[in-house]
Amino acid sequence: MRMDLDAFIRDLPKAELHVHIEGTLEPELLFQLAERNQVALPYSSVDEVRAAYEFTNLQSFLDIYYQGAAVLITEQDFADLMAAYLERASADGVRHAEIFFDPQTHTERGIGFSVFMDGFARAQREAEERLGITSSLILCFLRHLSSEEAVETLEAARPYLDHLVGVGLDSSEVGNPPERFAEAFELAGDLGLHRVAHAGEEGPPAYIRGALDVLGAERIDHGVRLEDDDDLLARVAKAGVPLTMCPLSNVKLRVFDVMGDHNLKRLLDRGVKVTVNSDDPAYFGGYIGDNYLAVAEALDLSLGDIAQIARNSIEATFLPNGRRESLLAELDQFVV
Ligand code: ADE
Ligand code: ZN
Repeated sequence: MRMDLDAFIRDLPKAELHVHIEGTLEPELLFQLAERNQVALPYSSVDEVRAAYEFTNLQSFLDIYYQGAAVLITEQDFADLMAAYLERASADGVRHAEIFFDPQTHTERGIGFSVFMDGFARAQREAEERLGITSSLILCFLRHLSSEEAVETLEAARPYLDHLVGVGLDSSEVGNPPERFAEAFELAGDLGLHRVAHAGEEGPPAYIRGALDVLGAERIDHGVRLEDDDDLLARVAKAGVPLTMCPLSNVKLRVFDVMGDHNLKRLLDRGVKVTVNSDDPAYFGGYIGDNYLAVAEALDLSLGDIAQIARNSIEATFLPNGRRESLLAELDQFVV
């Protein structure tokens, strides 16, 4: 039965909507790039790196994640990172991915937009040709930095707007409410970009409400704390606002002690448009298929539940209608 479930999940056509490209940097590539670029690492082996990935909360992870990104320097580094992710996602049945990147993590180190954008674009093109996987990019503002810096970042991205599908908001949540970024999100809307935001990962439901009402967020990234506010939950379910949930991340960052406590199934049963994603798979012990499998087993999901989650993911994409409809048709064929 376990093998059947593995194969069902792997072959199920799906979209990934919550993955940070910097969070797909596997320890092996981290070492390779550190050597290629002569960057010193505070670790002496891949095993030592993996042993350091014991987190107590979001901030304890972010400290290590930003440190890891320091090995990404050349256009080829960003292309290699993107190529490795798309290959791995495709093997998990991902037909389309909307991928976060953190430009400020790179521009702060003197690396310009052209370096990472050109590297990403080349790998995205090659993966689409070779594997058929489509992908687009979502520029995330770092919420531990200022509103002015977010606006400046969006201005710097103007020459690359054709390569972006939207903007997002990530990094340290508690103490950095969404309202601070109203100006950057308004500008993004004026530029025709979609808007999403991390909210309710560690922060309160008020941050989810702020993301919807003040930032105009069309999807909520994580949103586990939605369960603490019945009125908001009913509103989100009725409006069909998707939640991009990341179960392995939530357990690794101690949002839930064990997977059996995760609220994904309860939210699904209350009509919330839940999706399953990997967040930072190199740090949290699994890609999207591992996340599907972990919740399916711990929460006793039916095959119908699992197929509904995949359907939600395709419906929640920012794809043009033609491609979305064809992926939905592919899913329909698979599940009958
Ligand atoms: N950046 C990368 N992963 C993140 C997460 N889970 N929450 C907030 N910011 C992040
Ligand atoms: Zn995230």
